[in-house]
Amino acid sequence: MMRTPLMAANWKMFKTPAETKTFFENFLPLVKDAKGCEIAVCAPFVDLPAAIEAAAGSNVTIGGQNLYWAKEGAFTGEISGPMLKALGCTCVIVGHSERRQYFGETDETVLKRTKAAIEAGLKVIVCVGEMLNEREAGETEAVLKKQFEGGIAGLTPEEFAQIVIAYEPVWAIGTGKTATPEMAADAHRVIRTLAAAQFGGVEVRILYGGSVKPDNVSALMAQDEIDGALVGGASLDPASFAKIVNF
Ligand code: 13P
Repeated sequence: MMRTPLMAANWKMFKTPAETKTFFENFLPLVKDAKGCEIAVCAPFVDLPAAIEAAAGSNVTIGGQNLYWAKEGAFTGEISGPMLKALGCTCVIVGHSERRQYFGETDETVLKRTKAAIEAGLKVIVCVGEMLNEREAGETEAVLKKQFEGGIAGLTPEEFAQIVIAYEPVWAIGTGKTATPEMAADAHRVIRTLAAAQFGGVEVRILYGGSVKPDNVSALMAQDEIDGALVGGASLDPASFAKIVNF
């Protein structure tokens, strides 16, 4: 069975609610005819109501960029899966490398967040990927294996069916250095082999992320292994993200 491509925006810490509204006014007409491809925008928490309202009835779904694993409680500053779901989110990113680097995210907390999100009825984009020094030391495969075993392998097959994996080599994020399509496909094959060994026949979509732009998306998507993109910088501009969606 063909895997449906997913083009997902990760806005990171950009845009106000007013800017979110303007983005969708410009973006939705440009992608309304996008066929055979799912589109998601993962926005900062404060922008989610504006995004959900603007995208209602369209072919674009909305998600968060993180969540906490408890349903509710004394956890100042945190947001839970049921809260995102109640707002109208359909998905959430977990384990982005920026959360791993700057906010203490570990494979263990990735697994907790992923399970909590699935329990709340959200699809999860789980991020993995190696740092530059790890790639240069020839450790890419070992890093992906460790991240898979610690952050993903503990899911049940039913839970695993609710996730999408995003391979984002850290050295390619925001640097303008994209992994070549072949490098990305190689890493995707490593992940797919790990997934097949753990979960057998469950098909998983694997996105590539890291300096995806309108002018390199086609070459990346030409690889059978690449099922879509997780886009940072180039997703902030409606015309540029629309070009990626309509590659
Ligand atoms: P850039 O597209 O800005 O490199 O960011 C990629 C990313 O981190 C998406 O999650």
